Amino acid sequence: MTLPHTPAAPVVPTIPGIDEALQARVAEGMAAVTARLHEVVDHDDPFIAEANAHLLNAGGKRFRPLLTLLSSEVGQGWNVQVVDAAVGVELTHLASLYHDDVMDEADLRRGVESANSRYGNATSILVGDLLFGTASAVVADLGPEAVKIQAETFVRLCSGQIRDDRQTEGGVGEVDGTALAGDADDPAAVTAYLGILADKTGALIATAARYGAMFGGCDERTVATLTAFGEKIGVVFQLADDLLDVASLATTSGKTPGTDLREGKATLPVLYARTSEDPADERLLTLTRGPITQAAEVEEALELLRAHPAMTQAQQHTQRVADEARALLDGLPAGPVVDALHALVDGVALRSS
Ligand code: IPE
Ligand code: IPE
Ligand code: MG
Ligand code: MG
Repeated sequence: MTLPHTPAAPVVPTIPGIDEALQARVAEGMAAVTARLHEVVDHDDPFIAEANAHLLNAGGKRFRPLLTLLSSEVGQGWNVQVVDAAVGVELTHLASLYHDDVMDEADLRRGVESANSRYGNATSILVGDLLFGTASAVVADLGPEAVKIQAETFVRLCSGQIRDDRQTEGGVGEVDGTALAGDADDPAAVTAYLGILADKTGALIATAARYGAMFGGCDERTVATLTAFGEKIGVVFQLADDLLDVASLATTSGKTPGTDLREGKATLPVLYARTSEDPADERLLTLTRGPITQAAEVEEALELLRAHPAMTQAQQHTQRVADEARALLDGLPAGPVVDALHALVDGVALRSS
């Protein structure tokens, strides 16, 4: 199963309007990252080599390595260590996708059959583990501080994924004593939700920025600013992803729309929909309690939610978090790199794939 969006050529993410010399340096860095990724996922066993490379070959946006390369440009720009740091982050992300698709019973990823669907759950989990191991081996060459950061990032990512899963497994979960079945009028429910996103997605994107700053030679204050920026743009990235689960088509996202709704996951648009007291919303609210077993009901929930003001409210909320990310950039020296980071926030908050 290959959808039209699948990239035939190596992925070179571009940021509209950025300085041309910067774009050229980032494209060169990305080529080095891509070459190294292919080198490290190779394996003597042909089946393992194929399963390792399955999602890598399918493309992906390479958002995290892009952020590592851009962050390094706030310092002296990319070098071999920055490239390896970007590879370590992308491999950690890749591994988390092999596991996430098992958790979410997803059948489509990056426009191709998901690994769990193609090879089964056991292989998908083990290939994910293997890729985490490969990521750790790459990061180990960057020294003990990088290894510690990678380990702490992975703990946060997994803790976010566990709490995310508890929302859907057996109904309502709890985060720090807060039930996850609330609505957007309940600040604790939104805080708990954003906390999950910060851990499952923000932590690794924060590390992508932090590594770029560290190995690009930035001072400690700049490293801290870029780390905080990475975490914030990471939350925006996941909020946008949750909106795309409702709004996008498989041909643009490379994933099956409605996966979160099918599982009964209370993402931000659902939390906003739950604030409605309009009796006309009763059907939508029943469906969003999930899990939904019938494909026609997933379609029905998608149609109702797409047309609901909750989508705009969740988009506006996403823009407010994007503003918080932009504000963090005020702590960095103005110039083409910070302009590019601003453009990156704009692109992520409004992304369509
Ligand atoms: C998907 O990440 C998982 C999330 C954290 C939303 P991406 O949207 O970066 O996936 P790829 O790498 O482009 O496939
Ligand atoms: C994935 O979250 C987060 C991680 C892989 C850590 P989702 O389950 O929302 O991401 P997609 O939509 O499957 O990419
Ligand atoms: Mg998923
Ligand atoms: Mg998931």
